[in-house]
Amino acid sequence: MAVLDQLTSQQAINLENKYGAHNYHPLPVVLSRGEGVHVWDVEGKQYYDFLSAYSAVNQGHCHPKIVNALVEQSKTLALTSRAFHNDILGKYEKFACEYFGFDKLLPMNTGAEAVETALKICRKWAYEVKGIENKEAEIIVCKNNFHGRTTTIISFSNDPVARKHFGPFTDGFIKIDYNDLEELEIALKNNPNVAGFLVEPIQGEAGVYVPSEGYLAKAKALCEKYNVLFIADEVQTGIARTGKLLAVDHEHVKPDVLILGKALSGGAYPVSAVLANDNIMKVIQPGNHGSTFGGNPVAAAVAIAALEVVRDEKLAENAEVLGQLFRSDLQKYINTSSIASLVRGKGLLNAIVINDTEDSDTAWNICLALRDNGLLAKPTHGNIIRFAPPLVMTKDQLLDCAGIIIKTLKQFEN
Ligand SMILES: Cc1ncc(COP(=O)(O)O)c(C=O)c1O
Repeated sequence: MAVLDQLTSQQAINLENKYGAHNYHPLPVVLSRGEGVHVWDVEGKQYYDFLSAYSAVNQGHCHPKIVNALVEQSKTLALTSRAFHNDILGKYEKFACEYFGFDKLLPMNTGAEAVETALKICRKWAYEVKGIENKEAEIIVCKNNFHGRTTTIISFSNDPVARKHFGPFTDGFIKIDYNDLEELEIALKNNPNVAGFLVEPIQGEAGVYVPSEGYLAKAKALCEKYNVLFIADEVQTGIARTGKLLAVDHEHVKPDVLILGKALSGGAYPVSAVLANDNIMKVIQPGNHGSTFGGNPVAAAVAIAALEVVRDEKLAENAEVLGQLFRSDLQKYINTSSIASLVRGKGLLNAIVINDTEDSDTAWNICLALRDNGLLAKPTHGNIIRFAPPLVMTKDQLLDCAGIIIKTLKQFEN
């Protein structure tokens, strides 16, 4: 068999199982093509993608404008490293800064790297601007957070599977309950060493937990009161996913530090970034931080195209309208359902909670049945299934998908 011969699904799965580290537990489906809201497996079966690579493919699979930017820039100049300038990075930085309303952007590749970058910027700001004594800075984070997989980031995770046997961990983090302003104020008050508050505007991985209305605005006000940086991790919620360009826009909050990834490239390439104003970003000087690939010409070209698609195709507006429709359709069904107990979310970042224990395999089995019925989704934690289709979906497609989900849930009613 030649290396690139066409495989059956089972052959592809067998190869991954034998030669790949087992750091994921994928749904058994092997995809070989994607276009817009659809993906196809190697046997040619078509599915709706209801995960969008964890919200990276907001612009739809293989968007022609993004693919064109990727191909054209790859043929011209792919990588210089930051040892030299290139003729597109500055254009991208200007475009993205104006797009999101910040003075400066620091380019990285993956979401976790961007989170790490934001933490480093925050600590340096603490020592050089706020005046905290060296090595004393603390950053407040929320329980059940998901910010990535590096050693520092898992240091403040409370997921035992993500942490076990990966210690020793990084100090300097204070964990509080999500959506609890009282706890936030207690953590801020009487602690002059707090440098930042890192928060997901909606906790995606934890199961699409939407905080109470006003939480983000009040948390930002508390951060201002105590001279602490409000750091929004919008890697999953950002770039039109929740019905606004950023999820913090629902509460008119301007973060001090904004973290983006995933849909910044429309899924075509790993592109992430941290944005902040000059008073914060000025702490980063040559030699402090970097990445060989961060800000490379292909990433810059792809990100410009991806952001243009979001704006030109009004994806935030579409996510808002379709999200309302999705939740109201699902809610009507759930009112009479014994298998699903609630639907929640914002825009097209939603989840349903399955009426079973967290350690049951019901949600997993529902996802297998959804797959058989032509729609791909995955449980987040235990009994919660996240639904996050590409934002280029039409109303008819959305209704079709809601129909598939309801039909599938009905198979599990007792
Ligand atoms: C909120 C949030 N932050 C950070 C990350 C990490 O991104 P990456 O997997 O690209 O490192 C994720 C990934 O799901 C995320 O949801």
